[in-house]
Amino acid sequence: MGAVFNRAHFVFTHSTNESRKLTFMQKPKNTNHWWQNGVVYQVYPRSFKDTNHDGIGDLNGVIEKLDYLQALGVQAIWLSPFYPSPMVDFGYDVADYCNVDPIFGNLDDFDHLVSETHQRGLKIIIDWVPNHTSDQHPWFIESRSSRVNPKRDWYIWRDQPNNWGSVFGGPAWTFDRQSGQYYLHQFVSEQPELNWRNPELRAAMYETLRFWLRRGVDGFRMDVIGMILKDEELRDNPPNPDADPNAPANDLFGRLLATYNMDQDDVHKFIREIRGVLDEFDDRCGIGELWGELPRWVRYYGKDGDELHLPFNFRLMWEPWQADAMRRSVDALEAALPSFAWPNYVLGNHDQPRLATRFGGQAQARLAAMMLLTLRGTPTLYYGDEIGMENGLIPPEKIQDPQGKNLGAERTRDVARTPMQWDDDPFAGFSTVEPWLPISVDFQERNVRAQAADPASLLNLYQQLLHLRSETPALHGGSYAAIAVSAENCFVYRRQAQGAECIVALNFSAESRQVCIPGYQCGKIILSTTPGRQETVNFEGFSLRPYEGIILIPSK
Ligand code: GLC
Repeated sequence: MGAVFNRAHFVFTHSTNESRKLTFMQKPKNTNHWWQNGVVYQVYPRSFKDTNHDGIGDLNGVIEKLDYLQALGVQAIWLSPFYPSPMVDFGYDVADYCNVDPIFGNLDDFDHLVSETHQRGLKIIIDWVPNHTSDQHPWFIESRSSRVNPKRDWYIWRDQPNNWGSVFGGPAWTFDRQSGQYYLHQFVSEQPELNWRNPELRAAMYETLRFWLRRGVDGFRMDVIGMILKDEELRDNPPNPDADPNAPANDLFGRLLATYNMDQDDVHKFIREIRGVLDEFDDRCGIGELWGELPRWVRYYGKDGDELHLPFNFRLMWEPWQADAMRRSVDALEAALPSFAWPNYVLGNHDQPRLATRFGGQAQARLAAMMLLTLRGTPTLYYGDEIGMENGLIPPEKIQDPQGKNLGAERTRDVARTPMQWDDDPFAGFSTVEPWLPISVDFQERNVRAQAADPASLLNLYQQLLHLRSETPALHGGSYAAIAVSAENCFVYRRQAQGAECIVALNFSAESRQVCIPGYQCGKIILSTTPGRQETVNFEGFSLRPYEGIILIPSK
C-alpha cells in the first residue's frame, strides 16, 4: 500500500488580480487549532476491524488500522460508542459511562489506543451520550426502584404522558409498573432520558467527561446535545403541517413539531458548563450533533465562542444533487457564522444512507469528496466513504437497527453500517467469521487493497485531496468566496490565504460543461477527479467533464 499512498507534491503560485467577480467573501480567521486544520474520520467500531474473531469490530482493530488512517491523511478519529451497553441501540444505550464493553476490549486497550493514536500525531475524539442512558445503567435501576429514591429526579418521571413520540416509533413514554409512573424516552424505551435540570446529575455527567479527558481524549462528539433540555412544563408539541402522509402509523415523532422537546433556550447555559469542563484541559474540542434552522443552530457556538467548537453541520448531506443547492447552503452558512465561529461539513455518518448511494453513484462520490475536502471548515469523513461504499443490502430478517425494526426496512440505518471492506478475502478482511451485519456484495471489487493498488481509485483521490488540503494554507485555512459562473449546474469557488489562492470548479451535471471564470486568464489544474488530468487551462473557457471537479492555481 505504501507505494500507492505516496504524498502528492504541488507547487503554488500567487495571484493578486483584484477585479474578480465574487458573490461572497469571508475573511480567514484564527486557524491554529488541530480541529480547524485537519479532517475528522468517523469510525463505527462494530464495523471497522474485528481482531478477536467474534464478527464484531473492536478497539484493537482500530489500533491495527491506525497506520492506514495516518497514511490516508486524516487528523483525528472519532469513535462511535464503545461503552458497556445492552446494545439495543448499538452502544447509544450506555450502561456505564466510564468503561469499555467487553465486546470492544477493556480500558487498557483504550489507553493503548490513545497512546498509539497520539504517537502517530493523530487526535482521538469519543462519543458522549448525555441525553439518555440504558435502562440497565445503575442510575436508572436506582431511579426506577422507588419514587423516593435519591436518583428518582435524575430521570424524567410523570403521572401522565404528553403527546410526544419516539424517534424510533411509538410514544415517548413508558409506564413503569413498579413505581407507577411514566418515564420519558425519545428513542427506544430502553433509553430513559436524563433530567438535566437536576444539578447532581449534571455534576455526575461532568465527571464522566473528566474521566476521559484525564485519559487523554482530545474531544467529544456529543450525541443529540440539543435535546438534553426539555420544556419545563413538558407541554404537548403542536402538529407538524409538513408531516409525511405516507409515514408509518407509529411515526408519532414525525407527526409533531419539535417545539418543546429540543432546542430550548435555556439549554445553552448547560452547554456553557460543558464547555467549561473541556476548558479545564488543553486544546480539547467539543462537537455536537445538532439540527435545526441556521439562526437557532448557530447559537450553539455560544455568544462569543463559549459553547461548542463545532456544532455539526449536516446541511449538505440533505441537499439534492445540484450545484445551486450546494452553493446556497454553503453561502448561507458562511453568512450566518459570527467571526469567531469555524465552519464544518459532514457528508456521511452512521445514521444516513451512504453518500455514494444518496448522491447517485461513484462519479458523484468523487465530486462530493472534492467538495467536502476543499470547502472552508473542518470536514468529517465517514469510514468506508473513502472507497465509495454503497448502501448494504440487508435482508429483512437480518435488520439489527431499532429504527429499521420499528419503522420499516426502508428506514434501517444498517445499510450504512456494513463491515469495512479491507480486501477480497472471505469476510472482506474485516473478520474471520460471519460478521454482525452482512458484508456488501461488491466487496471483491470495492475494497482498500484493490483501490490502494489503483492510482485512479477513489481511495487515491481521497488521499491526494487530504494531503493537498493539509499542505495548502488556502485550502485548510483560507477564505471562501463563491464565483458566479454561467455554466449550468456548476459550483465554483475561490479559496485564498496569504496571497496564494486556489479555485475549485465542480460540475454537478451528467454533461460536459464549458466554464468561464471572469477576471482570470489561465490556471494550472493541480488535481482533478479525472485521473491524470493536469493541464493548464484558459479561464475564458475550459471544459469540465460530466461530474468532474478540478482544483486550479490561477495565474495572471
Ligand atoms: C444519535 C445517534 C444515533 C442514535 C441516537 C440515540 O442521533 O447518532 O445513532 O441512535 O442519537 O442515541
